Amino acid sequence: MTLPKDLSETIIDPKAYAKREIADAAFAAIRATAPLDKAQPEGFDPFWVVSRHADIKDIERQPDVFHNGDKSTFLSDRAGAEMTQALTGGEANLIRSLVSVDGKEHKDLRGVVFPHVTPRAIKPMEDQIRLIAREFVDHMLSFDGTCDFAADVAFLYPLRVIMTVLGVPREDEPFMLKLTQELFNNADPELNRSRMELSREEMLKSLWETTMELEAYFANVTKRFRENPTEHINSLIANAKIDGEYLNHRQMMGYYIIAATAGHDTTSNTTSGAMWALAERPHLLRAMQDNPDRINAFVEETIRWETPVKHFMRSAVADTTIGGQPIKAGDWLMLSYQSGNRDEAVWDDPFEFRIDRETNPQIAFGYGVHVCLGQHLARMEMRVLWEELFKRIKSVDMNGEGQRTISNFVCGPKHVPIRFAAQ
Ligand code: HEM
Repeated sequence: MTLPKDLSETIIDPKAYAKREIADAAFAAIRATAPLDKAQPEGFDPFWVVSRHADIKDIERQPDVFHNGDKSTFLSDRAGAEMTQALTGGEANLIRSLVSVDGKEHKDLRGVVFPHVTPRAIKPMEDQIRLIAREFVDHMLSFDGTCDFAADVAFLYPLRVIMTVLGVPREDEPFMLKLTQELFNNADPELNRSRMELSREEMLKSLWETTMELEAYFANVTKRFRENPTEHINSLIANAKIDGEYLNHRQMMGYYIIAATAGHDTTSNTTSGAMWALAERPHLLRAMQDNPDRINAFVEETIRWETPVKHFMRSAVADTTIGGQPIKAGDWLMLSYQSGNRDEAVWDDPFEFRIDRETNPQIAFGYGVHVCLGQHLARMEMRVLWEELFKRIKSVDMNGEGQRTISNFVCGPKHVPIRFAAQ
């Protein structure tokens, strides 16, 4: 079956995610009427839209049948796919990172960092992260009652945390922020590289330029950490050996880039979305202050609520069936985490922000062998920020309209104007 054209066009449209209700309504209609149908928007290879939570999990638990790296791992049109192949000498993804490799290569690469980001491994970092959180709470309070929480706090705090963990000096943070925003917000004239609306072809060209600029930066990082190894994640990447060899150039660059960029934009989007949810619900701050043991539930709900990674793509390598729908080898599929996280079959009131959910099997971090490598760090840094902030303010509400980025991939609020009173 083929999805109605209007639904196909909506779910690929970056502007539909900037007004989240539009994308949410399209996915609700898809779940209700065509939960696993094929989209065929003009200029794109057809792809299945996987909208149900259970189907996303089913696909993610079969990495031998559904590959990440054979086709683009994020939605890209045909012209983009051709240009990517031309630029990379035949690969389907501009960046060769964990999310775009499979099998042994994926297992080996993931093994380089995985032991250092388990809950137990990151526990000793909590004190340092708390100091950073306090610094940003002080920074927020210095605004004297109003600020843009996205730009003034949420973009900066996760950036400082991940750069500290990676071993990137503070003076390079603005550069990393700018390039990450360019990478993920190509369709947004306020944040992309050219600061103007771009054609799809121009977007890919600018993605490539940003990637090259990041690679030039990271070339020096390898040199520095090979000369002086440390415990930082970038040092682990620089010095890792698989089967006796250092990572090759594309693997190493891909690793640096995904850790640096995925490591803060996602968490920033979730943090600003959490504040937006809080500021629109005046009772919630008080509820959190009265029940600090609900902070983990709050964090989990903010991750579900915001779902900053809207999708990842997979391609089938064998004929199979998902949710009763036959899928053929070679088919391309969009796993819509945003839709999975609003699935009525899993949540009561999926469109409500609730901190009293008994369970919250949110799928915003993905699932299976590719499940987010930074999930425990992300949870910890957000928990610590809210623990510190809730002690210091007595009220918060919106001070104007919030605004979301124009993007169909990794995105969230870019402006969250708030008014607050300190304790
Ligand atoms: C709220 C914050 C975050 C969200 C929602 C998020 C979401 C995701 C998602 C959806 C995936 C793909 C999972 C899949 O295919 O099943 C992923 C993978 C990944 N994330 Fe995150 N992420 C977050 C924070 C972080 C942080 C802080 C880091 C930094 C250490 C990070 C690093 C990665 C890496 C390296 C991968 C690739 C894993 C693999 O393919 O094996 N993420 N993330």
